[in-house]
Amino acid sequence: MKDFKNKVAVITGAGSGMGRELAIELAKSGANIALAEIDETTLDETAELLKKYNVGVSKHILDVGNKEEVYNLPDKVIEEHGSVDMVFNNAGVGLASSVEDSTDEDWEWGLGILLHGVINGTRAFLPHLKKRPEAAIVNTSSIFGLLSVPNQSIYHVGKYGVRGFTESLALEMKMEKSNVEVYSVHPGHIGTNIANIGARNGKFEFDPEKQDDGPNIFGSKAKTVEEAGQLFKDKAPINANTAAKIILKNIKKKNKRILVGSDAYAYDLIQRIFPKWYIYLLPFVFLIRRLFPKDKPLNR
Ligand SMILES: NC(=O)c1ccc[n+]([C@@H]2O[C@H](COP(=O)([O-])OP(=O)(O)OC[C@H]3O[C@@H](n4cnc5c(N)ncnc54)[C@H](O)[C@@H]3O)[C@@H](O)[C@H]2O)c1
Repeated sequence: MKDFKNKVAVITGAGSGMGRELAIELAKSGANIALAEIDETTLDETAELLKKYNVGVSKHILDVGNKEEVYNLPDKVIEEHGSVDMVFNNAGVGLASSVEDSTDEDWEWGLGILLHGVINGTRAFLPHLKKRPEAAIVNTSSIFGLLSVPNQSIYHVGKYGVRGFTESLALEMKMEKSNVEVYSVHPGHIGTNIANIGARNGKFEFDPEKQDDGPNIFGSKAKTVEEAGQLFKDKAPINANTAAKIILKNIKKKNKRILVGSDAYAYDLIQRIFPKWYIYLLPFVFLIRRLFPKDKPLNR
């Protein structure tokens, strides 16, 4: 899709991180935005930030894991904006647990959002997108949809699932010669609130005594789960705004598999070259990240 001007874009998880920044960057490009989010306060904040861009903005409070709420969304968006051209299935949550310690509730909650949220958003909007001359579905997987690490099994199932689902849909659209472009997004480590929000939901188990937990891979000794969430944000090589710009730049180039951040490229490469041993090589990526903590700013 070459131009976003006057397009209508639906963004889930628009209250924070990459969702919010996608909304801002798309509004700057002249797109009208339907903001979908579970948290009313952050949804309102994003809507406020979009006011200065003079584009159509609508707000929709929903849980992407609730099929009925998502299936009601297309009619509301079309009533408000007249049509829908782009859907960003971006909403997600962080959670960490070993397979042994995970509960049925963790699996249901995590996959409800990470996997079914994307399936719901895609299936609800696809018939409407097919009616447009040009349309796009942009599903957010992760680098954790390409390789695995310990204590992330629920997140991995969600993100590998999104990748498989999205690639299959992309082939279906290609074979049909459809107008609908299908993108899968694989961010590396991006400075957002995802670990904080996971902590708030009690889904990040973190024992400061056990420094083998996730936060330690960023080379810092966090004392509380909130501190770990903040470190996750501060230690990222790129921020959410740069990530959003990278995603949109790739959509303009019609690059259907979008890696976001130099760490995403490194993980992807290591996984391809060493499919069996990559887990032992990841510490070297972390070491390089410590030596070169930030990516170069994106020139646009
Ligand atoms: N930050 C990273 O390092 C990273 C890396 C790879 C992939 N991702 C993925 O990128 C996407 C965006 O995450 P982010 O990092 O910007 O995180 P974020 O926490 O800053 O934003 C996620 C947003 O989704 C919303 N949300 C959560 N559950 C929801 C639900 N059930 N219904 C509707 N909205 C809901 C949250 O309230 C929040 O506003 C997610 O899918 C995440 O898994 C993030």
